[in-house]
Amino acid sequence: MQETCENIISMPRIGDPAPAFKAISTQGEVNFPSDYSGEWSILFSHPADFTPVCTSEFMTFASLEDKFDNANCKLVGLSVDGLYSHIAWLRTIKEKIKYNGMQDVEVKFPLIEDITMSVAKQYGMIQPNEDSTKAVRAVFFVDPKGIIRAMIYYPLSLGRNFDELYRVLIALQTSDEFGVATPADWKVGEDVIVPPAGSCGVAKDRMEGKEDVSCFDWFFCTKKIAKEVILKKILKKK
Ligand code: BEZ
Repeated sequence: MQETCENIISMPRIGDPAPAFKAISTQGEVNFPSDYSGEWSILFSHPADFTPVCTSEFMTFASLEDKFDNANCKLVGLSVDGLYSHIAWLRTIKEKIKYNGMQDVEVKFPLIEDITMSVAKQYGMIQPNEDSTKAVRAVFFVDPKGIIRAMIYYPLSLGRNFDELYRVLIALQTSDEFGVATPADWKVGEDVIVPPAGSCGVAKDRMEGKEDVSCFDWFFCTKKIAKEVILKKILKKK
């Protein structure tokens, strides 16, 4: 069957339920997102096994797996390579690759095979003007209800920033837990943004200092939430 352009570039959107699929992985069958119900997950794609940028990313993600798990988040990788290629690549990483202070790195999270590209296409991971047969470096943050909450796409040549991926995860959870938004470059412990005043009275109270917030103007107010308070709520082990 000839692929239509529409079929190749279908893109999920923020707020959509994560498209459901069943797939084979290096850790057995994966039913996504139902296997991860009740916890956060990050579904990410990479262009190809046995390539350098992807290897650096996999070693980094694997080294950070416990940190993400402590924030109630599981990792799920995917490329359009087959299962045996995945297994061989992960074995090579563990046995032979030393990189950036990491060695003997075991990738314990599932790496999905997607030879037919069916999942990659569902998730808009194949972006034909970048490459028509390799997935771009996509990252989907999926919440405990299976809803896509954030997406980041990187081109083939650019390795991901894992501090940023962790920051996004913590910011999304902070937003959910405390009913706040997070400003530019926010890091846990820095001031958060309270929802906009919903009435003239609230706007006035805020500007007159009657609420426990600091305002730059009536529509832009922040408050402090201590780092320990956020981490106590979000992390399994503090
Ligand atoms: C890499 O991971 O190194 C890579 C993969 C595909 C194209 C370019 C680079």
